[in-house]
Amino acid sequence: MEKNLEVIILAAGRGTRMRSTLPKVLHTLAGQPLLQHVIDTARALGPSQIHVVVGYGGDSVQKTLSGQELKFHTQKEQLGTGHAVGCALPACQRNSVVLVLFGDVPLIAASTLQALIGGAQHKPVMLAARLVDPRGYGRVLRDEAGDFVAVVEQADASESEALICEVNTGVLAAPADQLGSLLKSVSNDNAQGEYYLPDVLGLARQQGIAVEVVVTEDAFEMCGVNDLVQLQELERLLQCKRADALMAAGVAVADRQRIDIRGDLECGVDVVIDINVVFEGQVRLGDGVRVGAHCVLKDVVVSSGTDIQPFCHLEGAVIGEQCRIGPYARLRPGSVLADTARVGNFVETKNTTFGVGSKANHLAYLGDTTVGSDTNIGAGTITCNYDGVDKHKTSMGDGVFVGSNSTLVAPVTLSDGAFVAAGSVVTNDVAGEELAVGRARQRNIADWRRPKKKKD
Ligand code: UD1
Ligand code: CA
Repeated sequence: MEKNLEVIILAAGRGTRMRSTLPKVLHTLAGQPLLQHVIDTARALGPSQIHVVVGYGGDSVQKTLSGQELKFHTQKEQLGTGHAVGCALPACQRNSVVLVLFGDVPLIAASTLQALIGGAQHKPVMLAARLVDPRGYGRVLRDEAGDFVAVVEQADASESEALICEVNTGVLAAPADQLGSLLKSVSNDNAQGEYYLPDVLGLARQQGIAVEVVVTEDAFEMCGVNDLVQLQELERLLQCKRADALMAAGVAVADRQRIDIRGDLECGVDVVIDINVVFEGQVRLGDGVRVGAHCVLKDVVVSSGTDIQPFCHLEGAVIGEQCRIGPYARLRPGSVLADTARVGNFVETKNTTFGVGSKANHLAYLGDTTVGSDTNIGAGTITCNYDGVDKHKTSMGDGVFVGSNSTLVAPVTLSDGAFVAAGSVVTNDVAGEELAVGRARQRNIADWRRPKKKKD
């Protein structure tokens, strides 16, 4: 029977090379903290417990992860990765297998880890990788027979050792009791004065315990983030992978280098995504949806055939079929558009429902408003939904016409077929088929002379 699995994630380091006050593991990759990626992967392995070792910025790390089932351990001083594991290990069951992950190696795949755990029932297993540029990583030393000897850190490596391209990914699995006794022998007599976790592997070998080295060919998975350049590189790699997956599923992505998916994106067939579009949260695009250049879509559902033109910002919106949005439209949370509705340039909606075929084509603010079907809202229409204390509702029926530059002072109701003359300030309800004119009458002054410049 396989032993019970516990995961220890190391996240106590400051990440000095990030040159930031934010703890390294809270820097985001694809919109999520680095550490969250690691936690999600760990969770997929079904461990009995996930331990997170925190230190620098520990409070903010814990706060960011609050509400998740995690056991935190504080490493007061960052004395090295070996010491960090020692902070959590006593809380693990002696007869479990412990998997150690680094909070700054975010893209390691659950399938890779699964293979490691299987081999670690009675001996340590480490994950190595071959890199073209091994700088910064611990190197894997092997003897003439090709058997594992030890890991040497970059700072401690001799010139010839530094040429080795097989590196330690940082991922390691071992029986908890074995790991515990090996850790006791780790010293900090090295270039950085730290207790190195990978030293347990060299010690195991010295004690005649076979160490299994699994070499992954996918360097992408094991990339660590130590500075902002590496973070950016990893972000692009990940986004390109996501773009490729979309294209493989039939989504026309204009440029794999210029798309950012920071949440979950689900697409129907014949979806077209132009350059520089950012997706956040949960986004669903129906068949044939087109997203123009430079849009940001967060938590939106867009039904089939809808055209989102360039430079739109959509958040918390539900959009029907065959609608046309933008360019330059802003749909804020609670915006719901029925089929064939149109929201054009410089129109902002919030908590607003549009019926079938209704339009606000230019320059409007609609807040806390319900719009029936086939209603036309003219340019410059503003709902005054806020009196400084409370929010009020504007309600428009079907077939309403609101003339340009009208101000609708909520609460107010325009019934089916109501008509508002351009430039009106509407403070009273308008019944069906009524015309509301809420403006001063035009006066023309005859024989009026323009002021003239005095000549001196
Ligand atoms: C580490 C490995 C190196 C490996 C590389 C892979 C050691 C000594 N070296 O080097 O062999 O090639 O990862 O990415 O393990 N941490 C703590 N407490 C500490 C020190 C570190 O929690 O006292 C955490 C950090 O927050 C980080 C992780 O451990 O998430 C790795 O630490 P880092 O200093 O980045 O190690 P590397 O120098 O990258
Ligand atoms: Ca690192």
